[in-house]
Amino acid sequence: MPIYRFMETPCKWTLGLWKDVIPDHSSRMFRRCWRKLWHPGRPYTGSVPSSPDSEFRNSEMSTQSERPLHTPVMVKEVLQFLDIKPGQVVLDLTFGAGGHSKAILQSVPGVTVVAADRDPTAFQMAQHLAEEYPGQVKPVLGRFSELNNLLPVLGLGPGNVDAALLDAGCSSMQMDSAERGFSLSKDGPLDMRMDGNRYPDMPCAADVVNALDQQALASVLAVYGEERHTRKIAAAIAQARSVYPIGRTLQLASIVAGAFPASALYARRDRLQRPSHVATKTFQALRIFVNNELNELHAGLNVAQTLLRPKGRLCVLTFHSLEDRLTKRFLRGEDLAAPPRRSIRQRAKAQHGLEKEEHEEEEEENEEGERGRESAHWVSLKKVIKPTEEEVQENPRARSAKLRTAVRR
Ligand SMILES: C[S@@+](CC[C@H](N)C(=O)[O-])C[C@H]1O[C@@H](n2cnc3c(N)ncnc32)[C@H](O)[C@@H]1O
Repeated sequence: MPIYRFMETPCKWTLGLWKDVIPDHSSRMFRRCWRKLWHPGRPYTGSVPSSPDSEFRNSEMSTQSERPLHTPVMVKEVLQFLDIKPGQVVLDLTFGAGGHSKAILQSVPGVTVVAADRDPTAFQMAQHLAEEYPGQVKPVLGRFSELNNLLPVLGLGPGNVDAALLDAGCSSMQMDSAERGFSLSKDGPLDMRMDGNRYPDMPCAADVVNALDQQALASVLAVYGEERHTRKIAAAIAQARSVYPIGRTLQLASIVAGAFPASALYARRDRLQRPSHVATKTFQALRIFVNNELNELHAGLNVAQTLLRPKGRLCVLTFHSLEDRLTKRFLRGEDLAAPPRRSIRQRAKAQHGLEKEEHEEEEEENEEGERGRESAHWVSLKKVIKPTEEEVQENPRARSAKLRTAVRR
């Protein structure tokens, strides 16, 4: 059965994403399909990253240099909101390079941090931190969707957690390592699997660009990259792979660039008005798709909802509108399978064919934000928080961060 069978089913608009184009890695049909296509390996890429050990050695090496592996975002705001007391249990769902966890351990005596991450390199770093803080750090290797099985082993059940943090997306450690295949400026195998090589059967980004039919590829770019020129890019990819398989990050970046006139290469601007490569959204889309990030985020929010005690606190950091919208709707208790609710103003704008500007959406939300939004499970206490100008200057990766905070009912 060709892979596009998964993509040609009617798409439903849910969670700000199309559920039917999300790979369900746990689905037997999906795995069978990929095996059929690529068994016994991924011939295109040689994309399996080196072992976690060697990645970790690389990370350790860069610890000795000036630049941190990952600069945690809005640490002060997170600590302030979580308001952790000595002896409490904190769930860090996204340990990464451990920046937030370390800040928690340093600022609250006797706290226990459950340090989870799907990335084996992050897991090794959590193990090292556990040696530094004996008995206080519990490293867990797993995806959000696996935590329901993994956390009970640590004796964690419903209501056992006082505070939780979910810092979504990729770490700089992942983005900056060429061999992980996330970066469009450093050449490496087109991999993008946050799990590293934990699931060798799991399709990587090269599998996606080489296997999906043009239409499906365009859908992935539209939904997960919010890219406007999807047909042009998908056609360029299809054309390129008919000549030679796509297996490297720079190869893909130049194929995408080739679909545009040279003047468009850096014509797009990021939020700091810095030139942004025309393939940025394509890379984002592939990364989200490969890692099933939106469904995973939903699973992570559910884990926090289950484990937090009443009055337990949750911080969620997101870095693009798909993540933020999903988080907002989840905390409001909206039915995520239903289309997003729209205000009269939004509906009127839609009727006139006007897209709602993101900042307008925020403004409207912030008007009610101070009062707080309530759902059956959560009270969202404050409006969405953004990093200060100074933080963005110091850490440009913080520029698109949004912090949502809520208290469990
Ligand atoms: C932005 S980084 C976190 C950085 C961390 N707060 C720090 O201060 O270093 C996000 C981390 O979440 C992990 N992650 C993303 N999705 C995940 C998932 N579904 N399950 C588990 N970990 C996930 C990534 O592997 C990455 O290490």
